[in-house]
Amino acid sequence: MSEPLLQLTYISDIPSSLTASDIAAIHQQANRNNQQLGLTGLLLHTGRHFMQLLEGPAPLVRSRFAIIAADPRHQQVRLISERSIASRQFPNWHMGLKRLLDQDEDADLTAVINLYGQQQHFSPQHAEAIALLFQAV
Ligand SMILES: Cc1cc2nc3c(=O)[nH]c(=O)nc-3n(C[C@H](O)[C@H](O)[C@H](O)COP(=O)(O)O)c2cc1C
Repeated sequence: MSEPLLQLTYISDIPSSLTASDIAAIHQQANRNNQQLGLTGLLLHTGRHFMQLLEGPAPLVRSRFAIIAADPRHQQVRLISERSIASRQFPNWHMGLKRLLDQDEDADLTAVINLYGQQQHFSPQHAEAIALLFQAV
């Protein structure tokens, strides 16, 4: 039987001191580590928030999330959801990266993420809406 897979999502605040090259370095590090670990996912960011989906074997996802949550390069890390999945949503991306801008075709998505970024707690309904958002990216 194959290992149970877990999909975890969270949202965090980006400190104003974080630069574009800091984000590029985070992305590079995430890709390198996740390739070794067998994790996949997608990291979205607006100017204000990161929203990440991380998936893989449950113990690995949880232990890496604990490391990520303690990273000082972001703040106020809030878990949105954890759910068991039968197959990966992003099997080809060790860590995809998408920068969302206010002005272009992603303006709505940016606004939604910035709105969720103001919340501290996420209901199952929020988690469901955010799962759909990751499907739409
Ligand atoms: C927004 C954000 C997303 C991150 N995503 C990942 C990730 O997907 N995988 C990962 O291994 N580290 C990720 N990191 C980096 C970890 O916090 C941590 O620095 C790293 O895993 C430490 O391992 P290393 O020193 O062996 O590279 C992320 C950090 C931030 C701020």
